[in-house]
Amino acid sequence: MDLLFILIGAGLAIFVIFVSFKSIGAGIAAKSEINRQKDKLKSGDKEEGIEDITNENIEKTNEQVKIVNQIDDLILIVDKFKNIKFFNNSAKKKFGENNLNKHVATLLRVPDLLQNIDLVLLKKETITMDLELSTPSFQFFKVHLFSGPTSYVDDPDSVVLFLKDLTDIIKAQRFKSDFVANVSHELKTPLVSIKGFLETISGHAKDDLEAQKKFIPIMLEQADRMESLIKDLLSLSRIELEEHVQPQDKVNLKEILSNVEDIHQKNLKSFEFKNNIKDDFFIKGDHEKLIEVFSNIIDNSIKYSEKNKKIEVNCKQGNGKVIGDSYTVSIKDNGIGIPTEQLPRITERFFRVDAAKSKKVGGTGLGMAIVKHIVNQHRGELEIKSEAQNGTEIKVHFSKF
Ligand SMILES: Nc1ncnc2c1ncn2[C@@H]1O[C@H](COP(=O)(O)OP(=O)(O)O)[C@@H](O)[C@H]1O
Ligand SMILES: [Mg+2]
Repeated sequence: MDLLFILIGAGLAIFVIFVSFKSIGAGIAAKSEINRQKDKLKSGDKEEGIEDITNENIEKTNEQVKIVNQIDDLILIVDKFKNIKFFNNSAKKKFGENNLNKHVATLLRVPDLLQNIDLVLLKKETITMDLELSTPSFQFFKVHLFSGPTSYVDDPDSVVLFLKDLTDIIKAQRFKSDFVANVSHELKTPLVSIKGFLETISGHAKDDLEAQKKFIPIMLEQADRMESLIKDLLSLSRIELEEHVQPQDKVNLKEILSNVEDIHQKNLKSFEFKNNIKDDFFIKGDHEKLIEVFSNIIDNSIKYSEKNKKIEVNCKQGNGKVIGDSYTVSIKDNGIGIPTEQLPRITERFFRVDAAKSKKVGGTGLGMAIVKHIVNQHRGELEIKSEAQNGTEIKVHFSKF
């Protein structure tokens, strides 16, 4: 449905741009006609009104180019040799400044696109096509090609390429379906296992007390797993809904970290835990959500470190990672670390370096995604430093209250 609206919007935009280009062309044509007349009149017998008409047309043309340059979509005009004769600011931003007169294939080496340019040149029809690029990163455009404003370029044959960037929408659509597939898979696994055990103990192991004693704790563990997953999913969707509203309460980072220490006290006893926050550090935030942030981070340090290793918490004045004066909380462990190439993916939903290990220690793969969203909601910054076998340091930067 969203896509339909966007396409209708794109259609309207193309119509406006098409009319605009025709009038830019007309404006330029009028300008040269007036210049010709002015040349004729050079001898002195000045015709009344010419000067005004010239200025008016130049202003009109400049105004129209200005409009085309304000548009978010990319606009290129190529001549019959497919050399670029015009590109608007958005196209400049995407492809770089110095592309005038270059062949369009130097920017978009896509055989279908080149073929369609030929078709438009030949038949003067409007063609619409999808354009998916994978380098340097995934990009998706709806491209409309139509016959160009002949008076705009020297050559009478030209083609306007109107590229509507749908990358974010297509990414969001794919992300949504991947997410649904992942959630279904994550929930199905424990459910299938619970169902299997129930069938066994209500079927052939009906009177087998030993089997029941063995299977019931496993079923409970699987049910717990489903419960944590649903809890994390609800938490994530609630935070996503509220992400645009920055929390405004005055909260003390010292108190938050001390509460988090209490929550994990039992597990932290097996580690060399040091909370070095002795001063008050006030930031604008939401107490409960910040507890969720640091609880998830410390939970990871516990889960992914061997017993007796050091886990250290510090807070100090920030280093300009966020706007204005700031504080930075650091949680540093000496655990199994994260391979450098995996670091950019740590905050992705359901991403785990080692899925089996994460499941074994009761992870859902959603903790760091929750952390990232809460930090974003607080307009803070998350920084993750880690190396395989060399511990992890997570820093969270916040603006001072
Ligand atoms: N402190 C850490 N040390 C080592 N690996 C970590 C640490 N924190 C996160 N990770 C890695 O990042 C993955 C994602 O973390 P998270 O979103 O909290 O999910 P999980 O439920 O698996 O803990 C974990 O599975 C783990 O592989
Ligand atoms: Mg976790």
